[in-house]
Amino acid sequence: AARAAALLALPVIFGGWLSGPQSTLDTEGPVAESQRHLFYTTLWVTVVIFVLVASVLAYATIKFRARTSADEHAEPPPQSHGNPLVELTLIGLSVAALVVIAIPTLRGIMYTYDVPEAERAGAYEVTATGFQWWFKFDYPAEEVELPNNAGRAPLTVANELVIPAGRAVRIDLRAYDVIHSFWVPKLAGKVDMIPNRGNHLWLKADRPGYYWGQCAEFCGESHAVMRFRVIALAADEFAAWLENQKHNARDTAAQSAGDNNDTAPAARVQFAAYEKIPRNTPGWSADFDADPLVNWRRQQEPRPAGSPPADAALIARGRALFTEKTCITCHTIRGHHIGGAPFAPDLTHVATRTTIAGGLLENTGANLHRWITDPDGVKPGNKMWRGVGGMSGYTVRDDDNTLDWRTHIAVTAPEAAA
Ligand code: CUA
Repeated sequence: AARAAALLALPVIFGGWLSGPQSTLDTEGPVAESQRHLFYTTLWVTVVIFVLVASVLAYATIKFRARTSADEHAEPPPQSHGNPLVELTLIGLSVAALVVIAIPTLRGIMYTYDVPEAERAGAYEVTATGFQWWFKFDYPAEEVELPNNAGRAPLTVANELVIPAGRAVRIDLRAYDVIHSFWVPKLAGKVDMIPNRGNHLWLKADRPGYYWGQCAEFCGESHAVMRFRVIALAADEFAAWLENQKHNARDTAAQSAGDNNDTAPAARVQFAAYEKIPRNTPGWSADFDADPLVNWRRQQEPRPAGSPPADAALIARGRALFTEKTCITCHTIRGHHIGGAPFAPDLTHVATRTTIAGGLLENTGANLHRWITDPDGVKPGNKMWRGVGGMSGYTVRDDDNTLDWRTHIAVTAPEAAA
C-alpha cells in the first residue's frame, strides 16, 4: 500500500517540477521549446532502450532461475564466446540510437546560438555580462547622457533584464572575471559567458511575463545564488520602461524640494524609489502579489495622489551616506554621481527592480537593510563585504551606527540642480 501511495504521489511531485519557476519543461518561448522537444526525444529513445534491456534481463532472470535445490548444484550450462550477428546488431542499434539523438541535438545547439534568418530583421539586441556574482545588461540601442558632460553611454541595468515580448532578442554574452553561464530555463540557455571571448544566444518570450534566470556554470562560492530576472513586456510598456530608465536621476530635482506634483516619468520612478519599498504602507500597495509581473509593475507605478510629500531631509541624509561613506566608491547613480568601479552594479532607479543582491532577495526595506549591513551573510564572498581599495562596504553605517533603509534608498533621489 505504501508503495502504491508513493507511485500515486509521483505525478504530483513531477507536476510540481513541471510548473516551477525554473522548469525547463514548462516553456514560454521557441528556444526553450526546441530544447524541451529535444529532451523528450532523448527521453523516449532511452525509455525504449531501457524497456528492451530490462525485459530481456527480466526474461532471463525468470526463465533460467534455479527451481530446485538440484538446479542450484547442477553443472553450469555449456559456455560459448562471441556471436557476430548479435554483436553487430547491438552495435548497429546503438549507433542508430546515438544518431537519432545527435542530429536534433546539433540542430538544437545551432538554433540556440543565433536569431533565425526570418526573425533577424526585427530582433532586439542586448549585452549581458557575468560578474561574481551578478549580471549586467547593456542596451546598445538605447543611449543615455552621462552627467558632467561625460558623453553618452548605453543604458545599463543590473540583474533584471527587461525585453520586448513576442520579439526575438539577441544577447551578446560577456564575462568580467571568470566563466559564467546564461540560463533562463523557461526561455533559453545555457550558453557560457567567457572572459575575452564573444558568445551569444537568442531568446523570445511568447507573451509578457516574469522569468527566473540563473548562472549555470560554477563560478565561485556564491555561484548558486547568482540569479537574475527577465521581464518581458508588450511593445508600448517596454517603450515606456525604456523612457523611464533613460531619465537621469537629476531630471527629478523636484523631488529634493519635496515637490509631490512632478509628472515627469522619471520623477515618478524616483518617488517610487523613495515611497514604494515598504509594501505594507497604508494606502499604497498591498503585500506581494502571487503574480511577480504584477509586483514588477507596481514597482514602476507613480507615487499615488495624496501621499505625503517626499522628506527632503531624509533624502539629503541618504545622499550624504551614499556619497560620504563608501557606496560611491564603486556604485553609480547615473545623473547623480559616477561610481568608480566597473564591477559594481549601476544603482540608477534601483527601486524599480523587484529584486536586490543579484536577484536573490525581494526588494523590500527589510531585505535592503539586511543586504547592506550583512552582505557576506547574504552572499558569501561578494565584494561588498571584502571591500575594494581599502574601503569596506559593510562599514556603511549612519553616524549613530544604525542604518535606516529609507535613508539609503532615498539617495536614488536626485541631486538638486546638479
Ligand atoms: Cu556565475 Cu556561476
